[in-house]
Amino acid sequence: MNVLVLIGSTRNGSFNARLAAAAVEALPADAQVSRFDVTRLPFYDADTDAAGELGPDVAEFRAAVAAADAVLIATPAYNGSMSGAVKNAIDVASRPREDAPIAGTPVGVLSTSLNPRAAQGVVDQVVLSLTIAGAAPLQHNVAVGINEAFDSDAPVDTAVHERLTALVGELVRIVANEAGDRASAA
Ligand SMILES: Cc1cc2nc3c(=O)[nH]c(=O)nc-3n(C[C@H](O)[C@H](O)[C@H](O)COP(=O)(O)O)c2cc1C
Repeated sequence: MNVLVLIGSTRNGSFNARLAAAAVEALPADAQVSRFDVTRLPFYDADTDAAGELGPDVAEFRAAVAAADAVLIATPAYNGSMSGAVKNAIDVASRPREDAPIAGTPVGVLSTSLNPRAAQGVVDQVVLSLTIAGAAPLQHNVAVGINEAFDSDAPVDTAVHERLTALVGELVRIVANEAGDRASAA
């Protein structure tokens, strides 16, 4: 299982990066995990894309998304919305429309922010954006306040860890089912 991790914060000590790391810990030992720094991507421009000039970082990113069996996105709320870097990454992965790298890909969405309601709002936005992009976001994702997720010396709060484990388990089930469908169709 090939999992691509995208983080909406580049801050040292990012809580969203820590949340994503806790989710990755719950993956099966043989999962192959890669991370792409979405701030390497240029701001999406359809004319530049049509001219094939978005550059090597976009090509590498689209190939990584296309190769992923599943994607994990973790982003903070920035002024009530997902981080711009993550939104741009979704836009880039949603094109070309007829052959979008993200199409059909299961995506688990995580958000932790100071305000848990802001985190939930961001998860809802990411799910909507992914759905319009043609991806397959999970129905049950993880939105949590920073004070709740990181309330002890443990990497992440126990109840939050259980939610992350359930989310990862759902991704693993979906990927296994899709592999089974492909095998029986072959
Ligand atoms: C530009 C900016 C906007 C923010 N807007 C919100 C917000 O709307 N709601 C909220 O709960 N926290 C907001 N925060 C606080 C973030 O939740 C907090 O800084 C969080 O730690 C960022 O995630 P990170 O730790 O992964 O970098 C904002 C932070 C920044 C830098």
